[in-house]
Amino acid sequence: MTPSHIAFIMDGNGRWAERRHMPRNYGHKMGTKALERVVDLAIKYEIKTVTFYAFSTENWSRPQKEIDTLFDIFRNFLSEIDKYKSKNVKLHFIGNLGRFPQDIADSCAEMTAQTCGNTGLNVVVAMNYGSWEEITSAVNRIVAAGKQTVAEEDVKNALYTAGLSYPDVVVRTGGEVRLSNFLLLQSAYAELIFINTLWPDFDEKEFVGVLNEYASRVRKYGGLKKADAKA
Ligand code: FPP
Repeated sequence: MTPSHIAFIMDGNGRWAERRHMPRNYGHKMGTKALERVVDLAIKYEIKTVTFYAFSTENWSRPQKEIDTLFDIFRNFLSEIDKYKSKNVKLHFIGNLGRFPQDIADSCAEMTAQTCGNTGLNVVVAMNYGSWEEITSAVNRIVAAGKQTVAEEDVKNALYTAGLSYPDVVVRTGGEVRLSNFLLLQSAYAELIFINTLWPDFDEKEFVGVLNEYASRVRKYGGLKKADAKA
């Protein structure tokens, strides 16, 4: 089975650059190239949705110089609207965009609006995203709506991911084995794949490796394997 939705924790940009005696920011630039490569691969392999963890709620603790470079990388990405329109990509942003400079938040809204009629790959970019912030703001929205009791659907609809599918698989590059506050609820039944390759080196071979690894997993969602269920 091919996954419908793959989410990526793009880790290892800094180390990739440091190993080449280059500044960490160069790693983020090459990481952006890897993101673009993965968008094209997702189209090629007919994946429906890819999500990228571009900036976490914890990333504000990085040096301001690194944050400013990431802002410039986001600005550049957001200026390439025609590229994504021509690929029939539909862009979505999840996270609390209000903490970014206004021009970045505005460009995210503009890119969402300009691609919302597209019918191809969904590209979800998580910016100032963290699951704890997401659930807290969801609860606040529900409280503001005056709800006394809450159904599971109310919570799902108040999350940033309302209307989006949940990941079938979460891939983390860079060798660390943790989820780092990323889509914790949405990944409740996702398959987790951790690979040592640093994000800027993530290529088609790695992508196909992820598809093959996913295909080898048996998903049971708390139930039984189909064959066992018959017994
Ligand atoms: C983690 O690697 C990566 C990030 C915090 C930033 C990810 C952002 C990009 C790849 C830019 C592309 C995004 C868009 C939307 C165009 P790290 O710096 O923590 O790496 P390290 O663990 O080796 O230090």
